[in-house]
Amino acid sequence: MVEPIRLTTREQRQALIEGASFNPFLLRAEDVIVDLLTDSGTSAMSADAWGAMLRGDESYAGARSWYRFRDTVKDIFGFEQLIPTHQGRAAEHILFGVTVQPDSIVPNNAHFDTTRANIEFRGGKAVDLPCSEAGDLESDYPFKGNMDTAALDALVKREGPMRIPLIMVTVTNNTAGGQPVSMANIREISRIARAAGIPFYIDACRFAENAQFIKRREPGFSDVASIDIARQMFSFADGCTMSAKKDAFANIGGFLCSDDADLAQRERNILILSEGFPTYGGLAGRDLEAVAVGLREVLDEDYLDYRLLSTRYVVEHLRTAGIPVLVPAGGHAVYLNARQFLPHIEPLQYPGQALVVELYIEAGIRGVEIGTVMFGLDPHTGEEQAAKNDLVRLAIPRRVYTQSHMDYVLEAIEILWQRRDRVRGMRIVEAPQFLRHFTAKFARI
Ligand code: F0G
Repeated sequence: MVEPIRLTTREQRQALIEGASFNPFLLRAEDVIVDLLTDSGTSAMSADAWGAMLRGDESYAGARSWYRFRDTVKDIFGFEQLIPTHQGRAAEHILFGVTVQPDSIVPNNAHFDTTRANIEFRGGKAVDLPCSEAGDLESDYPFKGNMDTAALDALVKREGPMRIPLIMVTVTNNTAGGQPVSMANIREISRIARAAGIPFYIDACRFAENAQFIKRREPGFSDVASIDIARQMFSFADGCTMSAKKDAFANIGGFLCSDDADLAQRERNILILSEGFPTYGGLAGRDLEAVAVGLREVLDEDYLDYRLLSTRYVVEHLRTAGIPVLVPAGGHAVYLNARQFLPHIEPLQYPGQALVVELYIEAGIRGVEIGTVMFGLDPHTGEEQAAKNDLVRLAIPRRVYTQSHMDYVLEAIEILWQRRDRVRGMRIVEAPQFLRHFTAKFARI
């Protein structure tokens, strides 16, 4: 797919971002030059995937496209039960709808915000147990996405299977910088979960990127095919949730898997109420086809090596220029450390948001704040405090931008770095109680 990029001038962008109340979520996408808001649903599909879409079988029940989708998912993920959903959060909504009770606890290396919100919506508690290295933004530890398994073990011993309906691990760990989880860590989580009789689920959105990190970084895997590494990851789990908008190159789609037929029956009851019949869920036959093709393509090792190297290319350039960036490079995104980039702006004046706004004005680049705007407000007490970090995520859509687009991004960041002293903080003018980062309105201080 080739799409035009409409260039704008700095003066136009200044007016456009003011018109969007300094929140890039409120911009029109066509006013963005390089869109790094998310890698979700924004990938370019291949000729094969588009061709398969034209062959989509739109029969209500038992469509050919369903069987192609089912067989592909079974081959890679290995689970017996498969529930197709329109995207990842619908899989989460169904899974937690049948497993989480008020006062349940769900541990994870780090919950993505929709995962957390779906657990909390059922009255449960979402607990993050990242490894200690994850907290050190400058450590080069190769598996900073890992879970702290000693903390998990202690939590499981303290609370037991009655309060913990499932244990999750997110690969790669989006909240902690797209960092991978090692096979050793997955094996150890599985051991703890099985010893306690608690199901273990993988949030599999970026499973292929995680598999390739294992191949390149974990001893003993360099000669193993990425698809076999992926199969091994899932062999340790009892189920998974998946957003096909990431590592399946699809514009929409997701699924929920397990080996528990009784549980799957209860999940299908909700599926039929909210998504659709069990052989299409929330998707058209053509979408099932696109996901089936994408799941195979994403495990191409040349593609995966290029994907990881191209993210690293950006991170290493920034690091060499002395610009504060989270290291080592993750899979799907580059995370600027806004608090260090703009040390004169205190966290409650949102250095991440200020940097996002300046990146847009400088070069029409759209990123997202992951910091005090996103996490700083407790929606129940209304109290606000600094988040642990103030980062700016620049997520890279798959197979969309070339190295020259990324060079343009690097140049823009370097220009901003030169004039960082003159960037001012922001204040919130108007914001909703929940998930305020999407729609909050800002003004410059
Ligand atoms: N889990 C993880 C780790 C995610 O990153 C996302 C989405 C989801 C679940 C939910 O999937 O969007 O298909 O409903 N992440 C996107 C992002 C939105 O920009 O990181 P979904």
